[in-house]
Amino acid sequence: MTAQRRALAPPEVETHVELHSYLRAEEERSLADDVLDGLTRPFKELPPKHLYDAHGSALFDAICEQPEYYPTRTETAILHERGDEIAAATGAVELVELGAGSVDAKTRALLGALAHAGTLRRYVPVDVSETTVRASAQELVAEHPGLEVHGIVGDIERHLDHLPEPTGPRVLAFLGGTVGNFLPGARRRFLRDLAGRMDPDDHLLLGTDLVKDPAVLEAAYNDAAGVTAAFNRNVLTVMNRELRADFDVDAFEHVAFFDRDREWVDLRLRALTRQCVNVRALDLAIDFRAREEMRTEISTKFTRERLEGDLAAAGLHLAHWLTDPDDLYAVSLARPR
Ligand code: AVJ
Repeated sequence: MTAQRRALAPPEVETHVELHSYLRAEEERSLADDVLDGLTRPFKELPPKHLYDAHGSALFDAICEQPEYYPTRTETAILHERGDEIAAATGAVELVELGAGSVDAKTRALLGALAHAGTLRRYVPVDVSETTVRASAQELVAEHPGLEVHGIVGDIERHLDHLPEPTGPRVLAFLGGTVGNFLPGARRRFLRDLAGRMDPDDHLLLGTDLVKDPAVLEAAYNDAAGVTAAFNRNVLTVMNRELRADFDVDAFEHVAFFDRDREWVDLRLRALTRQCVNVRALDLAIDFRAREEMRTEISTKFTRERLEGDLAAAGLHLAHWLTDPDDLYAVSLARPR
């Protein structure tokens, strides 16, 4: 996969901001490919990334405000309270943020702690949205004069080859519990790939939601206001718009349950009746049996032991385990063995 490199910032704008894009239009056929692949299988399944169009991203932000959905606010609190410890433990001069999203309280807590420790030199956000990376660069340079920003517009599973040469110890942050979206095999592959790119003085900073009372987990993905349900069903609207499909959004219901054996929350959409959906852009007809489900996301919940196992398999070892007082969520620091 040869990525096209394209410098995005006109040189006169900011000498210490660089943006590079590695996404090419012809590679972004993934929704069509994923629908063709995932919805013609005996057990229907779509990758979660298609939940996040503009409307889906706004709904996700709204999920984070729901009283039942504790992960985001808990992770933010941990980073706020333990940021100085993270800075001291890592001595990092660079924060590389994988799937950075827009500048949020978590990014600010980490950059603030590194700046406070006097080590901060560079921020390297990696995100699929060029608008987001560009906005982050501008905001953070304003907040931290002299900060270098090397933004990468790309996919964390395909474009990590393009991380800039390290200028010193780095923190590679993968927050939000997004690592929980991977199935176990893909998760281990991702962590192994990441570990292979780390220098001995780098740290991985990983955010993971923890196994807990299933009632608490299931409430977090079945909020009373129905925001998670709207977020989940929005993927049907995305397919209708992008692939000229004719999903009847009201003919599917949101399902989220904690699978106790696999220790993940399984998000699905269930067809209320037997129906046939046409995906015109693919010339594809998809049959659903009554009550047939398609999986739209898994959200893995971790124990410390399980995470240690994953890290060990990747050649990393857990150096710091930071949790909230109720052990809802963990932020861990791991380094190459
Ligand atoms: C962004 C993947 C961490 O798994 O909790 C929230 C996504 N889906 N509610 C999660 C999500 C439904 C979220 N992650």
